[in-house]
Amino acid sequence: MGPATTGILRAGRHPGTPPRTATRCDSGKTDAPATTRISTILPVTASRSGRKYECRPITTANLVDLDRFSSQHGKFRWCSCMRWRMTSSKYRSSTKESRVATLEDLVRQGQPVGVLAYEDSHPVGWCSIAPRDAYGALQRSRALRRIDDEAVWSVVCFFVDRLRRGQRLTLALLRAAVEYAHAQGARVVEGYPVRPGGLYTYMGSPATFKAAGFSDVTPPGAARLVMRHLGQP
Ligand SMILES: CC(C)(COP(=O)(O)OP(=O)(O)OC[C@H]1O[C@@H](n2cnc3c(N)ncnc32)[C@H](O)[C@@H]1OP(=O)(O)O)[C@@H](O)C(=O)NCCC(=O)NCCS
Repeated sequence: MGPATTGILRAGRHPGTPPRTATRCDSGKTDAPATTRISTILPVTASRSGRKYECRPITTANLVDLDRFSSQHGKFRWCSCMRWRMTSSKYRSSTKESRVATLEDLVRQGQPVGVLAYEDSHPVGWCSIAPRDAYGALQRSRALRRIDDEAVWSVVCFFVDRLRRGQRLTLALLRAAVEYAHAQGARVVEGYPVRPGGLYTYMGSPATFKAAGFSDVTPPGAARLVMRHLGQP
């Protein structure tokens, strides 16, 4: 089954996503965008391979594709992108099945969860993006404390199918995720990259974020990098 397309290529505000409020985006700011921009989630080409991929945000329309991706990638399914979403205690008391169900429920509720990359209609890559306050563990992280009260969206995870790795697909996913977030009204998109090879490699590399237009905003003395992409005011 191919990716569902309804409402995706011309995705405006995510269905069910409320206007930005202090509660929703954990910012203390209520500066909702004057207009909802139309997002064009364009086909992308992974530069090292020349292979073509298409990135689409997850909505109820293509939830089936997320489930397919999850079923085919056991490591992804194990976490179901809950490691940063749940607080540590909730994660510890959850089960694989409950995490799978929680991710699906979020999509059914219209919450932003991320972007899938497709090759020939097959989901082959994932990038997790959502308002920062949707990530319970991130909110509580000492290493990744909030640096100000901006209404940021956060990129916390990539997962690429083993056969498609090493083609810069994370950059394509990141660009699509950024476009999606800004189209939903995010003014600031934030990532927490790590140099490849160590812990948290799945959070993306500094070079990838730089190539996608992010700037280093790491506070002096901080243990972890913070990089930001600003949308149009
Ligand atoms: C991390 C991961 C997303 C990278 O995907 P990829 O498609 O190979 O990445 P890209 O080709 O876009 O390259 C991104 C960067 O990662 C580096 N990289 C990729 N795989 C690497 C590896 N195994 N070891 C070291 N560096 C690696 C690349 O050199 C590149 O670095 P640069 O930007 O400094 O040049 C992929 O290996 C993956 O999905 N791993 C499992 C993720 C995971 O466990 N997630 C958590 C559970 S859900």
